[in-house]
Amino acid sequence: MKNIDLNRIPNHIAIIMDGNGRWAEEHGKERIYGHQNGVEAVRSAIEGAGEIGVKFLTLYAFSTENWNRPKEEIDALMALLVKAIKNELDGLMQNKVRLQAIGNLSSLPVECQSELQDAIEKTKNNTGLTVVLALSYSGRWEIVNAVKEIIKNNIEVKEITESNFSTFLNTTHIPDPDILIRTGRECRISNFLLWQIAYAELFFPAILWPDFRKEHLFEIIVEYQTRQRRFGKTGAQISNTSIFNF
Ligand code: FPP
Repeated sequence: MKNIDLNRIPNHIAIIMDGNGRWAEEHGKERIYGHQNGVEAVRSAIEGAGEIGVKFLTLYAFSTENWNRPKEEIDALMALLVKAIKNELDGLMQNKVRLQAIGNLSSLPVECQSELQDAIEKTKNNTGLTVVLALSYSGRWEIVNAVKEIIKNNIEVKEITESNFSTFLNTTHIPDPDILIRTGRECRISNFLLWQIAYAELFFPAILWPDFRKEHLFEIIVEYQTRQRRFGKTGAQISNTSIFNF
């Protein structure tokens, strides 16, 4: 942590928490054991992000495509989510964490929806880190949804710009991620925040999610701070203006 420049902390980190199933297999257990141990990694990532002043942390907890998994795994994951939200609520309040969610939330089991809404309501005035859970979420679903809303609202073609299109996305009040991390030794995006990661810095640490701890997050931030983000400009333009946009 001492190697992190606290004046250039990313605003928003998004994480694809992959590798729970393989972690469980490697420990000779059922897949759900990996998801259960993934909760400790979630806790550590939230703690680490909060400690260094990250504003938003978005976690891909369940994708639209995850509905195609075996029913027992889906049921166990939903039950785990309900339990984790319930158990973590006091800690979130103590650490001033605000909880939000994106995705097709109405497709979640009723108990999961109500636990989530309760936690969102109770934490809504917290002023620290905002943790955004992506649940029943996919980037293509979100973009198609935005197009439907634009049509329903009779928005004229000439009024459609990149910035007002993004107001129709689930993430309308959330800045685009500066960093996207995917654990689990896979290098793909899997339909996550497709619009929002246009200029995110990508990291694929070779670690399975249940082993991820805040120290891994800090290492990534140290490397992030060595990268030059050019947003389409030349390196010389960026150096001359000293705009690093962290
Ligand atoms: C992907 O690993 C992980 C998931 C689909 C679920 C992530 C859920 C948690 C970490 C549980 C708790 C979450 C919160 C926010 C409290 P995988 O199952 O695809 O792993 P594999 O690629 O090794 O099969």
